[in-house]
Amino acid sequence: MPLVEIEGLTKSYAGAGTRQRSTVVDHVSFQIERGQTLGLIGESGSGKSTVARMLLRLIEPDSGTIRFNDTDLRAASHRQMQELRRHMQIVFQDPYAALNPRMRVEQIVGEPLDIHAAGKAGLAANAACLRTRSSRRERVSAMLRAVGMDGSALARYPHEFSGGQRQRINIARALILQPEFVVLDEPVSALDVSVAAQIITLLQRLQREFHLTYLFITHSMPLARYLSDQIVVLRQGRVVEQGGWQQICEQPQSAYTQALLAATPEMPILDGAGTSLPLT
Ligand SMILES: Nc1ncnc2c1ncn2[C@@H]1O[C@H](COP(=O)(O)OP(=O)(O)O)[C@@H](O)[C@H]1O
Ligand SMILES: [Mg+2]
Repeated sequence: MPLVEIEGLTKSYAGAGTRQRSTVVDHVSFQIERGQTLGLIGESGSGKSTVARMLLRLIEPDSGTIRFNDTDLRAASHRQMQELRRHMQIVFQDPYAALNPRMRVEQIVGEPLDIHAAGKAGLAANAACLRTRSSRRERVSAMLRAVGMDGSALARYPHEFSGGQRQRINIARALILQPEFVVLDEPVSALDVSVAAQIITLLQRLQREFHLTYLFITHSMPLARYLSDQIVVLRQGRVVEQGGWQQICEQPQSAYTQALLAATPEMPILDGAGTSLPLT
């Protein structure tokens, strides 16, 4: 049974000043197996983020179904959804916009613990445990270490960090509740190529360490190829082609995928371990 399964997801918006609606996501279906990475690739405006937001129920689809761990998310109660949310997290493209500038890193990374504890007020003992400052700080510190930062970050503010470090903070925040599934919405497209390579390497390591399942959104074919088990090619809200990464990259069936591949030649660069990362 796949961890994530969407079927026929569709979303349209009213056009500005017209009576016509434009369909931005049109009957998109795919499945993501546990522990795997599905690469969702398409040009800017092709509907990638809209698919992700519907999948996480941050916006409501017009039609279609979403199953997570065999639960029908569109039929889930508010309470069920609250519990499920801890298992599904998202990391956004812009590491600057996503962090509250007035909060210290300890608060930023630890906040999901408080929110989740508050939502489970019934389990008072558990909540009290999570709120204990020392155990909370320990969990935040451990997560910061897991993303390659040290304890000195706890008391600092987002503006004191570089773009790459801020994205590490975002990732720590996304992982603090030990989710099973993480949406990575163009997590490195705002970063310099060498920093991007470090973050990609980190994401791979975290996936192994925490048994994560990823939906990796990108407009870069080499990156999709590098990270994904399965690839879904999206164009103007529709799935053009989907399959294993090798099939999509080595025997692309559609002219559109062929054009995407041709438009992004591989640019090998070295990460810290001396591995060649194909990044564009
Ligand atoms: N809330 C909205 N209202 C109207 N149009 C929207 C809204 N959100 C997204 N769109 C449109 O939907 C299309 C797909 O957007 P998006 O999912 O963000 O694409 P991508 O993430 O692939 O760049 C774009 O044309 C965008 O302008
Ligand atoms: Mg987007």
